[in-house]
Amino acid sequence: MIIAVDGPTASGKGTIAKALAAHFGLPHLDTGLLYRAVGLQCARGGGNPDDPQDALAACDFPDHLIADPELRSEATGGLASRVSVHPEVRAALYDLQRAFATQPGGAVLDGRDIGTVIAPEAEVKLFVTASVAARAERRFAEMRAAGRTVSLAEIEADLRVRDQRDSSRATAPLVAAPDALVLDTSFVGRDEAIAEAIRAAEMLIA
Ligand code: DC
Repeated sequence: MIIAVDGPTASGKGTIAKALAAHFGLPHLDTGLLYRAVGLQCARGGGNPDDPQDALAACDFPDHLIADPELRSEATGGLASRVSVHPEVRAALYDLQRAFATQPGGAVLDGRDIGTVIAPEAEVKLFVTASVAARAERRFAEMRAAGRTVSLAEIEADLRVRDQRDSSRATAPLVAAPDALVLDTSFVGRDEAIAEAIRAAEMLIA
């Protein structure tokens, strides 16, 4: 069984994907980490993330980069969004994601284009979303808890830029698959959102 969980940044899709993987006993891949690794590798090597050739060269990142704490930063999220625009980068990361999705027994993947491009045949497709305000508040609280000094307005502005870039790119834009079940977490707590996702998945595979 393949479970595809797509949605914008800070929508709660990662938390939901992890919970679904634990519930169904399936392996989980956060595909955003791959784009983040490419973005970070590109920047560290002095490349320009907006240049397709520089971004493509960075797809050959070393495995240990996936565990680099800098991968989770907002700055790296921005770099990831920039390199992910290039069709060359998306093509270079396709096989790995496709192999993970189609492994025997199934898998849970979260990202932007899992239900539309990587695994259009997924039995369960969820599109997890929330208002920009709700997502910015969440990200703000997370960063404050991690001891970072940030402004809510800056986070909100950054989310809008990333949403716009991810949704308007020509290749594999952030969009709900026509057959995805949309889960709006704007006014829903973490546990409730997870319970709803599990209910939805069980309903879809019944
Ligand atoms: O989910 P995230 O915030 O870690 O993703 C970072 C960026 O990577 C996101 O802004 C767009 C890109 N991305 C993508 O284009 N396709 C995916 N499947 C996952 C992430």
